[in-house]
Amino acid sequence: MTDQFQQAARAILRANDRGGYTVPNGRVYPFQWNWDSAFVALGFDTFDRDRAWTEVETLFRVQWSDGFVPHIVFWQDEEGYFPGPSVWSTGTEPPTSGITQPPVAATVVRRLWDSAAAAGAAEDFRPRLEALFDKLIAWHRWFAVNRDHEERGVVVAMHPWETGRDNSPEWDVPGEPIDISGVGDYVRRDTGHLDAKMRPTKLEYDRYLALVQYGRAQGWDHRKIAAGNPFRVADIGMSMILLRANRDLLALAGMLGRDGSEIAGWIARAEAGISWLWDEATSTWCSRDVLTGRFSGFVTSASFLSFYAGIADPAKDAAMLNHIERIAGKVRYLMPSLDPEDPGFQMIRYWRGPVWAVVNWMIGTGLSEAGHDNWGGKVRADTLDLIRTTGFYEAFSPIDGSGSGGDDFSWTAAIGLAWSKD
Ligand code: GLC
Repeated sequence: MTDQFQQAARAILRANDRGGYTVPNGRVYPFQWNWDSAFVALGFDTFDRDRAWTEVETLFRVQWSDGFVPHIVFWQDEEGYFPGPSVWSTGTEPPTSGITQPPVAATVVRRLWDSAAAAGAAEDFRPRLEALFDKLIAWHRWFAVNRDHEERGVVVAMHPWETGRDNSPEWDVPGEPIDISGVGDYVRRDTGHLDAKMRPTKLEYDRYLALVQYGRAQGWDHRKIAAGNPFRVADIGMSMILLRANRDLLALAGMLGRDGSEIAGWIARAEAGISWLWDEATSTWCSRDVLTGRFSGFVTSASFLSFYAGIADPAKDAAMLNHIERIAGKVRYLMPSLDPEDPGFQMIRYWRGPVWAVVNWMIGTGLSEAGHDNWGGKVRADTLDLIRTTGFYEAFSPIDGSGSGGDDFSWTAAIGLAWSKD
């Protein structure tokens, strides 16, 4: 039965639907974003299966010939958006950004497929799955070549925006050497719509732009960028997400009767290499600067994606469960994007404290699958509680549940739908 909450969530997806793709939020983010679309598809799948598949297909329509899938697609012009197509200058049509975002799509496509199969619609969707499979494997191959060229089994982010956790404190020290002297004057769009207290700072923004200028100066040649970028951080979030996505892609390969050996190779490489991101000093999974070898040492929400990635290491799992218990004792709602005991924790500043529904979906799913349903169930219940009580905000304070960032957010509505359905 569809309740009022689900009706409201559907209405947000419908309102943010621009025909084949959904904007994260009409005011602040008026284009298609990569991982937002993947999560949005999970929401659509609860009431409009065809539209769910289209969301992912539209994103992959702009895939580059080398497999790259951009983090933003500028399907239409929007005056005043910054940094817009002319800043990125990728030379594509439609214009796109030149960096990517966390590869959750394969995991979502597997879900869409399972849901179609369960509804007896497998044969209708098989051709669409076949086509998407080729694109997903090409994207994952692009990751293996361009975001792990040293073959460590991790994902090396070339820009904080690539991680999806834009202003996480994990990027502060690795960002220091970035030369911001040539950035020049600019007018931000985000702080015109939202309280600056909830957003990244000017220094962070300058670094974001300097990295965009660097990529543009390399003509968005990703091999060159991988070899010379001033910011190269092995991101714990993307590394875990890609490992999980490769497992899902391998399952799809098996189902379609495709050769899965290349994918199995990537999984083996990640399983062998991922412990490079285990920081003994703080007993946590965390991001690590490839240029200096320095661990971030931060316990962030991304640290808890090890369960979602299917890493079963009893000692490390126990340490992460201890962190969850400790953090749950400090906040009302799991999972804050930064450890609430960290001195830099700020309950409403973007990725330095607030709870994000999509990250919770991955954490909760992973915990439950790994047999820790007590915690998985709490992450899910907290997420639904936040959305039901406060609204479909971009993120939420883990302390008092207040909304942070924009409202009427597509991916928050999508997770509300996905999690209230089953
Ligand atoms: C912000 C978030 C990013 C998201 C985008 C659109 O940049 O940090 O993860 O994809 O907004 O919602």
